[in-house]
Amino acid sequence: MSRAFFVTTPIYYANAEPHIGHTYTSVVADMLVRWHRQRGDDAWSVSGTDEHGEKMVEAAEKRGVDPAAFTEKISQLHQHTWAELDLVPSAFVRTTDPRHVRNVQEILQRVWDAGWIELREYEGLYCVGCERFLTERDMVDGLCRDHERAPETRRETNYFFLMSREFGWLRDHIQANPEWIAPERYRNEVLGMLRDASGLGDLSISRPKSRLAWGVELPFDRDHVCYVWFDALISYLTGAGYPDDPKFPERWSAAEHLIGKDILKPHAIFWPIMLKAMGLAPYRRLHVHGYWNVDDRKVSKSLGNMISPLAMRERYGFEPFRYFLLREMSFGLDSSFGEDALVERVNADLANNLGNLVSRALNLVEKGFDGVVPPATTAFDADRHVMQRAIDTVQRVDAAVGALQPSQALAAILDYASDLNRYIDERAPWKAGKSEPGSEAKELAGTTLHNACEGLRVIALLLAPFLPEAARGIATRLGLDDLIGRSRLPNDAMAWGQVPAGTRVAKGAALFPRLEKPAE
Ligand code: MSP
Repeated sequence: MSRAFFVTTPIYYANAEPHIGHTYTSVVADMLVRWHRQRGDDAWSVSGTDEHGEKMVEAAEKRGVDPAAFTEKISQLHQHTWAELDLVPSAFVRTTDPRHVRNVQEILQRVWDAGWIELREYEGLYCVGCERFLTERDMVDGLCRDHERAPETRRETNYFFLMSREFGWLRDHIQANPEWIAPERYRNEVLGMLRDASGLGDLSISRPKSRLAWGVELPFDRDHVCYVWFDALISYLTGAGYPDDPKFPERWSAAEHLIGKDILKPHAIFWPIMLKAMGLAPYRRLHVHGYWNVDDRKVSKSLGNMISPLAMRERYGFEPFRYFLLREMSFGLDSSFGEDALVERVNADLANNLGNLVSRALNLVEKGFDGVVPPATTAFDADRHVMQRAIDTVQRVDAAVGALQPSQALAAILDYASDLNRYIDERAPWKAGKSEPGSEAKELAGTTLHNACEGLRVIALLLAPFLPEAARGIATRLGLDDLIGRSRLPNDAMAWGQVPAGTRVAKGAALFPRLEKPAE
């Protein structure tokens, strides 16, 4: 029976066009879904747009349009971008979608009925950027740490979700499940927040409609709308088919969330306790990544350095950009994006290493063996070594994906490409060019190229979740058009000998043309 796999990206605020931060998470989610499908798992993914709250109202007002029209436009832009980049999730949830609104209201009612919500008077410092009241720890010199703007003093009657009841339970859950939040530094950060709970308390989950009308109405008090984070987190359930899709329970039991480090608190603290209040189990895992800085500066609208994925596709092709994102960032840490660095890395890894391997191996098959994969007739140490290295590589990649370290997985694949290049260099099969068929030199050259093609098949299979187009390109050149569709990871990558002798290859155009650095 196939296993369920379910991954989410955050749902992106519908006030900004897709940028490098969104693209990174969507690429990682897409890679994981492809990886699991390649394993035969039943994989599902959710992404979407977060459309309620004051931030949207502010942005819409600035442009003189109403929030519904404004968020509709940005949401469309997101959907268009992900479709163009072949990053379409299984379900795309808009928080304005009536099905989602129904879920939020049904959940609010249930949590209210169960006594988890209370009406209170509240005064505090509110940051519109964060869409929440701040605590001391959220501020530096009187300004919001994340948004560098002064919060406003606000006094309101709010409904509070009685979250603090469960901090003890949450701490125990985190302690009993060391891998629940990864990498470990973020797990420690959450334990730190829980240890010093002065920055935490119960969660205000309503806004009076007199101040903010753009949101989901509380079903038990129509004068208030729901706090945007409470509404947004529930999108993960909506996207998984909550409440009545027969696959919902299975998907939920496999739920893994991908988030950036700035939204750790809502995901690691609010969300598990919300789920508990609803009577649902916690998600399976939370994976937290760092920030992309651009040319060593923070990404921001005012600096205009958000990096549009469509512009990157236009300039370099999307897969080189996708490769750079996955290869450069060590998941969990911050990374720096720069176009020079992208060009250098892509040229070194893809054009010079992997691309060159494909073109020289197939060129040699075309020149020396009429374009037909020769049989392997001998097995010396070097031949056995490339076979063994294929197995090691599959294991390294499998472990790296399991630990959510895409950069290490790609490093392992590229190391294997280097090995194969070296193997060809040492054997120099081109020297056998004019030797008689059946001669020792010709047999050895045939074996070398056979194994190189076989190694390339393994690379194509392992690479497919990371660079689907390039993987298909390798498969087609190897004369194995349906390779990706019919193969399963890890077994087919481990099993040597699936490029039959006699297969006709076609070198074709360069798989990864060299990129040019941008002009100064
Ligand atoms: N709408 C909320 C998420 C709600 S999830 C129930 C939100 N949206 S966002 O559009 O502001 O951010 C979406 C994701 O992009 C977050 O994970 C955030 O960390 C990520 N990034 C935004 N800028 C980023 C970088 N410069 N680098 C990497 N990721 C960053 O938060």
